[in-house]
Amino acid sequence: MREPFFAANWKMYKTPAQAREYANAFAPLADKFRERAAIVLCAPFIDLVPLREELRDLDPAGFIDVGAQDVFWEPEGAYTGEISAAMLGGESVDYCIVGHSERRRLFGDTDETVARKVTALLGADIVPIVCVGETLEEHQTGRRLDVVAGQIRACLGHLSDEQRAGLVIAYEPIWAIGTGMCDTPQGADETIGFIRTLDGGLEDATILYGGSMKADNAAYLCAEQNVDGGLVGSASLDPAGFATLIDNALRGIDGASA
Ligand code: 13P
Repeated sequence: MREPFFAANWKMYKTPAQAREYANAFAPLADKFRERAAIVLCAPFIDLVPLREELRDLDPAGFIDVGAQDVFWEPEGAYTGEISAAMLGGESVDYCIVGHSERRRLFGDTDETVARKVTALLGADIVPIVCVGETLEEHQTGRRLDVVAGQIRACLGHLSDEQRAGLVIAYEPIWAIGTGMCDTPQGADETIGFIRTLDGGLEDATILYGGSMKADNAAYLCAEQNVDGGLVGSASLDPAGFATLIDNALRGIDGASA
């Protein structure tokens, strides 16, 4: 049985002071999800240490995890502006998003560089959250499954079944990100179910849906058998709103299994 999993992707929002405020507001609200779900807050690099420090006091058992939003694959060197997996691991970062469509579109990430980042993260005992998803044009021309299959094979084909089983993957249709145009629960379930068949180990991986997941649609999306939870952008920025979204999603999951 896979555990429900909710990851906040703050993107380029929140100063270190705001990250500390968020932790203080969110930790008491999230306490009731202990034993029920895994939760990770993926924050800008500069917020990771303050967030971890704050959570160490608020959540000593380490229930709420901290994640980064990108990494560079080399261990160290003359790479101005970059951060290595060893650096993140040294600051007790548990997860790291790679291959987000915003990085692919704006910063030149490719399946090949995503594959190298995944390897670097696994070497530092950080769980990659690997993003895949099709454009609107690919969606409208019926190529969603082909595109996703190509991304999964190119980003994860070099791993062992065991390594793939330990990953978090986020299916994020690009047309649904930040648009309010959420995929249908059936569409998300079909695509994620398909991803599970693509290669050894993926059946057991944690696979999330992302793209305009909100408090009012999380229950329907997460009630689907193949959807393990969400990678949540704008609806994760308010701590009370994110807690409500998780609450609703867990109700959806409970309802589906009742
Ligand atoms: P929104 O939830 O704001 O659509 O963003 C989704 C996303 O990109 C998460 O990584």
